[in-house]
Amino acid sequence: MSQPSSKWLETEKKYDSGVYHKHDVVIVRGQGATLWDEHGRSYIDCVGGYGVANIGHGHPDVVKAIKDQADTLLVLPQSLPNDKRAEFLTELVSVLPQGLERVFLANSGTEAMEAAKKFALTGTGRHKFVAMKRGFSGRSLGALAFTWEPKYREPFGDAVDNKNVTHISYNNLDELRAAVTEDVAAVIIEVVQGEGGVRPANREFLQLARELTREKGVLLILDEIQTGFCRTGKMFACEHYGIVPDGMTLAKAMAGGVPIGAFVMTKEVADKMPAGGHGTTFGGNPLAMAAGIATLRAMKRENLAEQAREKGEYFMSKLRAIQSSKIREVRGLGLMIGVELKEKSAPYITALEHDEGVLALQATPLVIRFLPPLTISKEQIDQVVASVEKVLNTVNPKEVPSTAVKEDKQTE
Ligand SMILES: Cc1ncc(COP(=O)(O)O)c(C=O)c1O
Repeated sequence: MSQPSSKWLETEKKYDSGVYHKHDVVIVRGQGATLWDEHGRSYIDCVGGYGVANIGHGHPDVVKAIKDQADTLLVLPQSLPNDKRAEFLTELVSVLPQGLERVFLANSGTEAMEAAKKFALTGTGRHKFVAMKRGFSGRSLGALAFTWEPKYREPFGDAVDNKNVTHISYNNLDELRAAVTEDVAAVIIEVVQGEGGVRPANREFLQLARELTREKGVLLILDEIQTGFCRTGKMFACEHYGIVPDGMTLAKAMAGGVPIGAFVMTKEVADKMPAGGHGTTFGGNPLAMAAGIATLRAMKRENLAEQAREKGEYFMSKLRAIQSSKIREVRGLGLMIGVELKEKSAPYITALEHDEGVLALQATPLVIRFLPPLTISKEQIDQVVASVEKVLNTVNPKEVPSTAVKEDKQTE
């Protein structure tokens, strides 16, 4: 289906910095797992704000919390204590793996990673890091040093200082053994690599990482920015593996859609950062805190982790039943799902959007990634699967116009 012209789209394209490949739809409203464009057409949202909208769009508790807080107090720096911040910290620490009891509040994932890096430096007095090939840690210059794909770093040359970072192959036990030495500050691992193609860690790999880091006095820092907050079928993905890290980076779904990020850590790590050693103006602002409290409570009350586990299994089993020689593998954990094709995924993602009203993400040139709100219904999952089957069986990739989904371009 060709898209009608739009003054909003033209205006946004005119003034935007140009770093994003814009889809050619203008989304104006959302509810649950459904989005609507300016012409009233509905879409099933399997982009989920890049894994932010876990509790669904327009959740009434979050909407109310935001409205009430806007009436009460919007802005307050962290040097001034606040009732909502204290309440949010209590809620957050209550769901964290035991031992993680200190929180640095920020506004995004990449800021959470910057904080993790600084706390690891002061926490250990060491300056070497181990990160993963295919890993994605964010876009600020500090976080970029951990991000693997050269295309994200190359435009900035030596300004991305990664000479102290060793990238090893994900899930490779021998490379892990060789890299974790006594001069390393931290090992950084996504529990399921998202941008790298939706690849869950192996159990032995994470368990060995925990053992080796403990043995060598190295911090194990898990990046749960995409996997956290019920996405994979547990509150945090590390719970599937029975390990507790020394620190976790969090963001995305934590405040139901309001920008937020956090580095959570042990008391020992926090205590080594000098007062004034790090900070941010907006971190811990009352609006994000109020939204976060409502979000965490809704996640628990609605048993969202269990919903993600059950619907994820259903979704993956139906995707695996699709008859198409174009599919190489369906993999994932909970409702973080990737369909790896034997060919470029971009034309099929565009066809899903244009022809079927299904929004999905790319992850590596070959993978179609699904990060729907965890409240998505089984009927919507059925529709998505039918649409995937249809586009794989009917679409000629050469005939699909190239729009937002460009191969080799990062989608986050
Ligand atoms: C695993 C992971 N780490 C870090 C980030 C960076 O987060 P943000 O885009 O909020 O800076 C992302 C974003 O997609 C991510 O998926």
